[in-house]
This record gives sequence, structure tokens and C-alpha cells, in this order.
Amino acid sequence: MAFSIGNIFKGLTGGGKEVSVLGVDIGASSAKLVQLRASRGIAVLETYGEIALGPYGGQPIGKAVKLTPEKTAEALKDLIKESNVTTASVGVSIPFSSSLVSVIDLPPADAESLKRIVPIEARKYIPVAISEVSLDWFVIPKEEGTDSAFDQLQEKSVIRTKGQEVLLVAIHNATLKNYQEIMEKVGLTSSFFEIEIFSAMRSCVGHGLAPVLIVDLGASTTKMYMVERGVVRMTHLLSVGGQQVTETLGRSLDWDFEKAERVKREHGFIESTAYGADENARIHEALLSTLSRVFSEVNRVLLSYGQRYNKNVSNVVLTGGGSSLPGIKDIAKTSLNAEVIIADPFSHTEAPAFLGKVLSEIGPSFSVSVGLALRKLKHN
Ligand SMILES: Nc1ncnc2c1ncn2[C@@H]1O[C@H](COP(=O)(O)OP(=O)(O)OP(=O)(O)O)[C@@H](O)[C@H]1O
Ligand SMILES: [Mg+2]
Repeated sequence: MAFSIGNIFKGLTGGGKEVSVLGVDIGASSAKLVQLRASRGIAVLETYGEIALGPYGGQPIGKAVKLTPEKTAEALKDLIKESNVTTASVGVSIPFSSSLVSVIDLPPADAESLKRIVPIEARKYIPVAISEVSLDWFVIPKEEGTDSAFDQLQEKSVIRTKGQEVLLVAIHNATLKNYQEIMEKVGLTSSFFEIEIFSAMRSCVGHGLAPVLIVDLGASTTKMYMVERGVVRMTHLLSVGGQQVTETLGRSLDWDFEKAERVKREHGFIESTAYGADENARIHEALLSTLSRVFSEVNRVLLSYGQRYNKNVSNVVLTGGGSSLPGIKDIAKTSLNAEVIIADPFSHTEAPAFLGKVLSEIGPSFSVSVGLALRKLKHN
């Protein structure tokens, strides 16, 4: 189930003394990894791989599963082996759903006062005791951009007159402990954990000023992040994802989950000679019925952000495995009130030309893992 380019790269990259780093993204339905190495300032892709987690929990490929740390570690070990990973130095993502990311408005205060104010304010937003979470925050700059806590901000920001906006980030300590435990079991040395939003931002959007909406089409959910001036300004979670697309397709065509998942990935919206006109039409309709729910929610988010801040959000970046659905771009273009870009995270890496096509096709699944490896590379 895992695919690997393993040895292909060994001869090409020459095995110098440069350090290799790993990004690991444990999603609801599959785990992905990307290994990069810095060479003359370029991020060279050494290997990548993905493994479906469903089978480790007695479920088919494409289903979201909740696994024990032991089972997750087992899957990761298999993936590492199949991908010929050669480093234990890793950055790991934390699911958006296990975190809290919010922009809060605070009165003007200096950095010292904020240390006192933010944890108190945070109580209003965090449903558990502050002692149970790891808290971080970042003042959204008013004037000249400086390097941000999330290493994102590179552009001049808009001048605001009243108070200040603070990006508040919290992760449950129990979640961090769970991921630490998994990494220990796998034998990886994790140097940082990062909420997947920030990893995806790094590999999906440039440093432009204009607001961009990242839409991550995952297995059981669709996650939306509005990014502006390099900072996440708003997030939204929808409990519809690729798994539901498969389920609806299966129900309409009377196929089991496995077959529906296979046909979805292979043909998507592209008509197939394997099916008659009637079946092709039913496949199209079934896929569209679920996706149009997602797209109308995306439009709603675009509209509400646009109205609230009085600006037009003109770009949507589609990422996550669901964005590899054949033909999705044209459907998204006609359904969404914005330009549609399919994420191409591997464009930030150097890889042999013959892999170009496959890397751009599978790219959306790897946005988080590429983003993690890029951060790890930079701060190694
Ligand atoms: N080529 C493809 N065409 C259509 N759908 C695909 C394709 N490849 C993967 N998917 C779908 O993408 C979904 C999984 O996406 P992804 O791997 O990004 O999710 P995840 O990271 O496991 O979940 P989450 O981000 O919600 O934790 C599944 O529903 C799967 O069916
Ligand atoms: Mg994911």
C-alpha cells in the first residue's frame, strides 16, 4: 500500500554529508512522510510514502480510523521501511481537530503584560483548564512584518489603530503526550510538533498579501484556513470529507466501499469506457452531490470573510487527498466564487524530472508532510 521511490534518489543525490530530515503527517485515513535534504540551499526530495491506516484497524483503504498508539506505530514502521527512510530526525503534525487556533482582539499591551493577559483571556476560548494545554501566541504585527512565531510573515502588514490582534494556539497536553509516545515506539526523534495548518500553509501558499483560503479535503472532514499576509486569520471545520464521497458513490451504484473508493480515485469525474453512459452519469452525479455540499460551505466561508473584513478573497487552494480526485479542478472552478489552485507542495522541492507528473498528481496528499520537512530543514 505504501509507495516509495526509495533507491531512485540514492544515485542522484550522491550521499554527501548533508543532513536529511523527515516530515510525518498522521491523518485520519492515512499516514504520509517526506524526507528532504538540503543541498546548496535547495530542498532535495529523497523519498516519500503514504500508507492507508484503515487496514490497521480492520477497515478498508480510505476510511478514517482511530488507532491505538501501538497500531499507529506499527503502520509508521511499515511505512518507514517501505519508503527506505534513512533518518530519524523528524517534525510531526498535530491534527487541527486536536488544537485550538483563534485570532483574539486584545487591548494594546507590551510583550511583558501579554504574558499575563493572554493566558487569562485564553480561558474564554479554551474549554479545558489552562494547565492542561500547551499555549502559544503571536501578536499579528501592525506595521513592518518581522519573522513570526510561525515563520510565516514576510510582508508588510496593514496598520490597525485599535488594540491588537493576537493569534492564539493551544494543544491539549494529552495529545502531545500521545504523539510523543507514538514517536518513541517508532524510534524517531521528534524535535517539534506543529499544528497541521502551519505545515500546510508553508507548502501551499506563497507570501502574498492577499487572503487565500486553503481547503484541505481529508477523509472524514474538510478543513478551511483563511491565510492573509502569511498569518492564519480564520479556521473552519466541516464534517464532510472524501469518505462520504465514497459512501455516497457506493450507495448510488450499489458497490461496496472498496470498489467505490477505487473507482473514485481512478476515474473521478472523468468518463470511463469501462462504464456505460448511464453509469457514468450516475457516478458523476453521486460525486457531485457530496462535493457540492463542501463547495457551498467554501463559498459561504469566502462570503462571510469577505463581508466581515470588506475584501474579496480571490484564491482557493485545494489540498488533501480529496483534491486528487480526477476532474475536480473544473468542477471546483464552476462551483466556487474564486480562482482554484490545486496544491503542488513538491514544487518547493527538487526531484528528478520524470517524477514531475506523479508528484503533482499525488501532491495534495503531501502538503502537510512537505511543510513539516521544510521547517525541519530550515531550523536543523
Ligand atoms: N486520487 C484520489 N482521488 C480521489 N480521492 C482521493 C484520491 N486519493 C485520496 N483520496 C481521498 O482523500 C481522502 C484522504 O485524504 P487525506 O489523506 O488528505 O486525509 P487524511 O489526512 O487521512 O485525513 P485528515 O486530514 O482529515 O486527518 C480519502 O477520502 C481518499 O479517498
Ligand atoms: Mg490530512
